[in-house]
Amino acid sequence: MQEILFETELNKIQEYEKLLEGYYPTQQDKYNALDLIDWDFKEFQTQYLSHKFHSYPARFIPQIPKTFIKLFTDEDDIIIDPFCGCGTTIVEAFLNGRDSIGNDFNPLACLITKVKAQLISEGDLNLLAKKLMELKRYVDSDHRRPEYFKKLPKRNISNLFNRDMINELCLIKEGLEELKAHHEIYDLGLVALSATIWSIIESENGVDIFVNFYKKISNMADIIKEMRSIVKKQPKAKVLHGDARFLEIDSNISNLIVTSPPYVNALDYYRVHMYNMLWLGMDYNGFRRHEIGGHSHFITNRFRLLSEYLADMLRSMIEMNRVLRKGGICVIAIGNSSLEYELIESYKHFLAFAPYLNFKTVKTIFRNIDTTRKYTSRDIGKIDDEYIIVLEKTNDININSRDDGFVEEIVTRQMREFEQKVQKSPGSSLRGKRVSEKRLKQNSGRIAEAIRLIPQDIKIKG
Ligand SMILES: C[S@@+](CC[C@H](N)C(=O)[O-])C[C@H]1O[C@@H](n2cnc3c(N)ncnc32)[C@H](O)[C@@H]1O
Repeated sequence: MQEILFETELNKIQEYEKLLEGYYPTQQDKYNALDLIDWDFKEFQTQYLSHKFHSYPARFIPQIPKTFIKLFTDEDDIIIDPFCGCGTTIVEAFLNGRDSIGNDFNPLACLITKVKAQLISEGDLNLLAKKLMELKRYVDSDHRRPEYFKKLPKRNISNLFNRDMINELCLIKEGLEELKAHHEIYDLGLVALSATIWSIIESENGVDIFVNFYKKISNMADIIKEMRSIVKKQPKAKVLHGDARFLEIDSNISNLIVTSPPYVNALDYYRVHMYNMLWLGMDYNGFRRHEIGGHSHFITNRFRLLSEYLADMLRSMIEMNRVLRKGGICVIAIGNSSLEYELIESYKHFLAFAPYLNFKTVKTIFRNIDTTRKYTSRDIGKIDDEYIIVLEKTNDININSRDDGFVEEIVTRQMREFEQKVQKSPGSSLRGKRVSEKRLKQNSGRIAEAIRLIPQDIKIKG
């Protein structure tokens, strides 16, 4: 039975690979090929090679970017991901021999992406191995108590870092600083340190810090060696620490964007990564100010988060149009969210933006997400489905992403449609909760207020 199952899985994978290698003379043939794919990718390995370096919330599976890269680009194309997170698209571009540009406002995301898409030389890896042995002696013999982080931000998990742990992490960090001149291995060391901090936060029974750090580096070094045998000619992977609403990327340079933007009211990435960023000396407050989809504000009227989010995403899509060439493809993967018991179908809003931005909708693909994966949020629960919208750029647009007038007009239309939908059938996302009619009626008033406040809420902050 096991063997039969194994064989079917193998067949599925082989079929998929064959489909990607096929010859498709026209763009329409390529679009048709998308219909032959089982987008749930249930039997597929989704964590391989450098995808394994560091965990990251709400990342998408590598098969999404891989499919579009293989079907729609050639080796001399540039692939862009304006919300690259831990670099899934960038790694896939790298593994498939394409240059790429990743962008994210989270400095930790940028660091992880950079490290995942580079092949460190054997010489540098040996230097790092030597440093690790030195570092081990250093950690074993040093009993100072530097307590650099006496003032950890007040959150429950600050209790996780006791004095000994703080000491050990500081010693590792100090040791790494001596490698700063060798920036590739220095960055790799920082990613391993950040992954170790993540293990501490996630672990219930404590972690042997140095052993964990050492293992992470050894695994990463082995993976880099393996990748060296796969990637013969190293493509360029540029990583920008920037705002997706104002990309520092030239116009008309790419044939393909594959991205998964933040969700509204789902995750505050700056909170998730606060400790990692703190240890790595990164500015998490700067990121907090520019993070799209965060929900630490507008506490009394959550629908204001929606208009703010739609404005941010509209600005980002204006930028996506600008960096793409005419005929280029823009692929956006996004799931539904929920606000005050109302369903937010973000992909429908993006599809409604498309015609204003000279994007033609090619297709919308629905996929189930493997619910065993950690992909949850306190506010919206488990995210178990995802929509992939495929848009084609038909022309340039003469609109700047800072154009508040345009953004206000389009967001107001979308919010009015949302208001009508909620009036017609309130409580579209109750998720098993019993909510009074009176409570749901309040939502209409809140949405009306959010619409009134659009001119001020869509303004760029900070
Ligand atoms: C859903 S995640 C992307 C995950 C990515 N596809 C991956 O596989 O790792 C959304 C990303 O948007 C980033 N982000 C939030 N606000 C941003 C902004 N204003 N500009 C650029 N990136 C932003 C977050 O830091 C997060 O990494």
